[in-house]
Amino acid sequence: MAEHSTEPPDGKHPAFVVRSRAPLNGGPPPELIARAEHTPAELFYVRNHGSLPSIDPASYRLTIGGLVERPLALTLADLRSQFSRVAVDATLQCAGNRRDELQAIRPIPGEVLWGAEAISSAVWAGVPLRELLLAAGVLPAAAHAAFAGLDEVERQGQRFGFGGSIAIDKALAPEVLLAYEMNGAPLPAAHGFPLRVVVPGYIGARSVKWLAAITLQAAPSSNYFQARAYKLFPPAAEAHSADWQQALMLGESSLTSVICQPAAGARLPAGLVSIEGYAYAGGGRSIARVDISADGGASWVQAELRGQPTRWAWRLWQAQIELAPGAHTLVARACDTAANTQPESAASIWNFKGYMNNAWHRVLVHAG
Ligand code: MTE
Repeated sequence: MAEHSTEPPDGKHPAFVVRSRAPLNGGPPPELIARAEHTPAELFYVRNHGSLPSIDPASYRLTIGGLVERPLALTLADLRSQFSRVAVDATLQCAGNRRDELQAIRPIPGEVLWGAEAISSAVWAGVPLRELLLAAGVLPAAAHAAFAGLDEVERQGQRFGFGGSIAIDKALAPEVLLAYEMNGAPLPAAHGFPLRVVVPGYIGARSVKWLAAITLQAAPSSNYFQARAYKLFPPAAEAHSADWQQALMLGESSLTSVICQPAAGARLPAGLVSIEGYAYAGGGRSIARVDISADGGASWVQAELRGQPTRWAWRLWQAQIELAPGAHTLVARACDTAANTQPESAASIWNFKGYMNNAWHRVLVHAG
């Protein structure tokens, strides 16, 4: 159950909605999710699987090893003085965003029941991962870059740091950063201080926080969060008999859009109503269009996209729609620049881990 914190977690806004305190998981309330293009750090969602490590920046070292010509160990000062500082405007979204809608179809035990708040956007600044990898020298057999975090997670009776990997072509793409700044300020503790990976366009799990080590290797990371969690199964698969080798190892985010205002269950004066939300294409694609319906999808109007076209960040949108007195199901669906659209029903994409729910977003409101 979500809890409106009486005492907000360190550095968070009083309205931050806590879904679990240890580990900390939470995000902004619906009306604040899409208020600003860049989410203030105090509202940025937090997805932790384990402890919050306390890291001494003076003794911190980032190591780069595995299939490289020259293994490196770098201080924070080395990272700032020997490499470029690049800023990227990028949205992070957890693969479990909107899991609550899947849970309403069939139970999803043991997972955080996120609403639509496991997504936020920031300007990240730091070292392009590409520069570091080129400095270390990428050997031809290196097919994946694996990241290891300094936190401690417990799974299946074992303790280890959170980790994950991305394929080498993405690791060498210019947008992937080792970020030490978020929205112009040092990275907050909850978001990975002193250094985190930011993999724009990918599920949030690949953006490893409190980064300790990068290892180039022939195979994807064997870390639990790459090899077991964050895998997508078809609707009929069940946890006890699932074939983990066959499932899709999640990478790119898929197209989604969400109505943030009005909130579900809102009572509004009949007449012209303003509707607001976010749309995110994922994978480096851009939002082409957001359609809004006030009659459950029978008819649609086009929302106005705010800001400028973006490649790695969400697009906020707004629409005005006339509501007669009575109950209305507001619906949002987006279309991206590859003409992808969202699935109409969450039931068609249900999966027992509750990932990647990008069905049309529906909000029931009452006008009167
Ligand atoms: N990195 C570490 N070390 N530990 C974690 O638990 N959670 C991942 C990722 N990086 C995680 C991590 C997941 S699942 C997501 S969605 C993002 O961090 C969330 O980033 P945020 O908490 O800064 O929003």
